[in-house]
This record gives sequence, structure tokens and C-alpha cells, in this order.
Amino acid sequence: MGKAKKAWGGRFAGPAERRVEEYTASLPFDWRLYPYDIQGSIAYVRALMNAGVLTDVEGGRIIQGLEEVKDEFHRGSVELDPAYEDIHMYIEGRLIEKIGEVGGKLHTGRSRNEQVALDLRLYLRAEIGEILAEIRGLQEALLDQAEGRLDVIVPGYTHLQRAQPILWAHHLLAYVEMLNRDAARLADCLKRVNVMPLGSGALAGSAYGIDREALAQDLGFSEVSRNSVDAVSDRDFAIEFLTGASMTMVHLSRLGEEIVLWASAEFAFLELPEAFATGSSLMPQKKNPDVAELARGKAGRVIGDLVALLTTIKGLPLSYNRDLQEDKEPVFDTVDTVRGTLQVLSPLVRGLQVNADRMRQAAEEGFLNATDAADYLVSKGLPFRQAHEVVGRIVRYSLERKKRLDQLTLEELRQYSPLFDEGFHGYIGLEASLSRRGIVGGTAPEQVRKAIQTARADLKKERGRG
Ligand code: ARG
Repeated sequence: MGKAKKAWGGRFAGPAERRVEEYTASLPFDWRLYPYDIQGSIAYVRALMNAGVLTDVEGGRIIQGLEEVKDEFHRGSVELDPAYEDIHMYIEGRLIEKIGEVGGKLHTGRSRNEQVALDLRLYLRAEIGEILAEIRGLQEALLDQAEGRLDVIVPGYTHLQRAQPILWAHHLLAYVEMLNRDAARLADCLKRVNVMPLGSGALAGSAYGIDREALAQDLGFSEVSRNSVDAVSDRDFAIEFLTGASMTMVHLSRLGEEIVLWASAEFAFLELPEAFATGSSLMPQKKNPDVAELARGKAGRVIGDLVALLTTIKGLPLSYNRDLQEDKEPVFDTVDTVRGTLQVLSPLVRGLQVNADRMRQAAEEGFLNATDAADYLVSKGLPFRQAHEVVGRIVRYSLERKKRLDQLTLEELRQYSPLFDEGFHGYIGLEASLSRRGIVGGTAPEQVRKAIQTARADLKKERGRG
């Protein structure tokens, strides 16, 4: 039995088993909630004072005691005995040790069931704000990389087969779009996170007439929860966060996969910045893309966190059940993983060196201009289906002779259609192919330049919003 006295000890004749204390304790991980628990308690004390439940003197002493406990955490001078059970009991216990019995008035009309919901909401609100800023940081890195190499042409792929030429910048901007949606999803989830549960009591609502609206305002919440039973058993907001985070990690994983692939000798499109590559303990020549691999690998654990919490919640009767304590580790793990991944990918992306010659060469080989050749015939009046068929046969001919389309003479081409003439070779060049795609969302350089400007302006607006 630890030195901590149980807050609920009165009902019991003897102490709890040490194994039970350890099994049920959340303090080893929920200590991270301490700033929010203390913030919530201080606001709650003010609400009790306003409701006339605590005198100003009592309230003042409790608030000062809570500030001192916070300082102990900041100094790192805390001893986290699992006998305290959780962060809420620890802080209350320390408060009473410091200021005496008056500390026992803090929890008047309050339950840990609402307290833990409050803490998790405050925590997530802060962390989602950080994640949104870090997503914007990665978008900026992608835009810097794109803008710095607007001249670079790469093969665009479908089925991982070379398909059509695109700008390297256009490819990177695809990730900027994915991250825009991720940020929007997380920002939207913030609306459901930002709801204040205090006043719900254990499940039936507080009997102390505290002003919930004023308390919400004090804590910066935009709404108060409308049903006390729901408020203590709802973890939708955490699941939504894990969903948004999983989607983000899926995108970072795809980016990681492409970096791994493109940095391989087989592609040799990218050179990793040295500080973001790793060596082998055995093979002296190796320069491995471990960071990008782990961005891919860690998506799995975040998806696992989401599935874990969904599974925990699915069979729970209303209202609070201790199972809900299992919400915290997946949420903390996901916050740490997503933030860590964003923080390391941003400088990596910014530092990528492109092998522009190799990329261009890859875009010139493999008939990426076959669609352009068909478009050429369409421009001469041939229906597209026929043009497709004609160019398909020309590709087969070229493969047999180991030639590229631009190496065919007009004589050879005219064996397949009389519509081929002088303009053909210019028409199927890489630059010409790109420049015809000046449609919104297309890969023409002037369109990509505009897309970069728009993305930069959006980011600036977001940053202004905070
Ligand atoms: N540590 C608990 C949790 O994380 C706090 C709430 C406990 N409430 C209770 N009645 N046992 O969910």
C-alpha cells in the first residue's frame, strides 16, 4: 500500500491490494494532463466561489495551493506513486498535503468522470493547435521544394508505370492538397472537442448551481455540453481526432513510400539530405531512408490507436465506465507520433536534392508522350478512339525497333496515318505537352506557379488565424 490515502477510502475496511492499485492506476501515463487538470480546477474553484459554495479566502488558498503543485511539476520534483491512482487524485492529494483540510473542498459537487473528460478536451485542443501549425510547416517545406525546382519534369505514374510527363512541383503540390484536407478535418473536429463538460457531476449533473456558461468562458470553450450522461461517457471527440490523425498519417506514409522509392538506385530521382539519412552497421556503403520508412511504418500504430479506441467504446453501457481510462494512451501515442513525423519530414522534404537529368530522361523514355501523339491526330480531325488505335500500333512498331516516338521519321509515321506532318515532333515534346495542360488543376508551368501562389496565400491566411 502506497503512502497515498484513498479519496474513496471511507467505504472500505482495509487497504486495496498493491496489484489492484497498479493494475487500475493511470498516473504513470495520465500525469501528462497535469497542466489541464490544474487549469480546470482553478476555474472550477472560481465557479464555486461565484456560486457561494467557497468563500473568497478558501478559494484563494486552494488556487494558491494548486499553483504550487503546478510549480512542483515544472521543477520536476514530483513522486508519482501509483497508489494515487490517477492525476486527478494526485493533484488533489498534494493540495491537501500542502494547504490542509480546506483543500478537501475543491472537489465539491465534482466528479473525476467530468474532470477527466475536461482534461482530455483541453489537452486535445492545445495539441490539435500544434499539429495544425506543424501541418502548415510541412506544406511550406513542400512549397519551397516545389518553387525551387519549377523547371524539373518527372514521369507521372499510374499503376507505378510511367504515364505522362508532369512537373516535379505539380507532384509535390498533390501532397499540399492532401494536407489541406487533413488540416480541415482536424480543425473541424476541434468544434466537437471544444465543448465544456464540467457541471455534469458523476453523471446526473451538479447540485451546486455553478454558472456553466461563465465557467466555459473562463476556460475558453465555445459551448457547454447539453446532457450530463452523454458528457461523461462521450469520447467521440477523441475518436474523431484519431480518425483525422490516421488520415494524416496515411498521407505521410504515402509521401514516405515515394521518398523511399525515389531515393533507390533503381529510380535515383532523389538524394536524401545527409542529416536525414542513416547508415548500416554492416554495409559501409549504405545510405538508408529510415526516416521516410518510419513515417510509413508509424502510420500503422496510429491506425491501431484508432481501432483500439473504437473497440473500447463500442460495447460500453452509459454512462462512465472505467474502460474509458483506456482512451489516453492511444491519444497520447497518436499525438506524439503525428507530431514527431511532421517535425522530421518538413526539414527532410526541404533538403531533398533532385536529380533533374535522371528525372527528365525517365520522362523521355517509355512513351509518356503517346497520349500527346494521339491528341495530335485528334487536332487533325481524327476521332480519339481511332487516334488511340493508330498510336498504339506506332508504339508497337517503335518497341520492335527500339526507338522513341520522337525518333520516328515522318515517312515511318505516315505509314500509319497521312495526317502526320512537320508539326508533329514539336507537338509531342515534353515542354509542349506540359504547356497544353494549362487548365485549372493541370501541370502547365504557369498553372503550377499559380497553384503555388494560391497555396502560399492560403497558408498565410491560416497563420493569421493562429
Ligand atoms: N483515471 C480515470 C480515467 O482516466 C479517471 C476517472 C475515474 N473515475 C472513477 N469514477 N473511477 O478515466
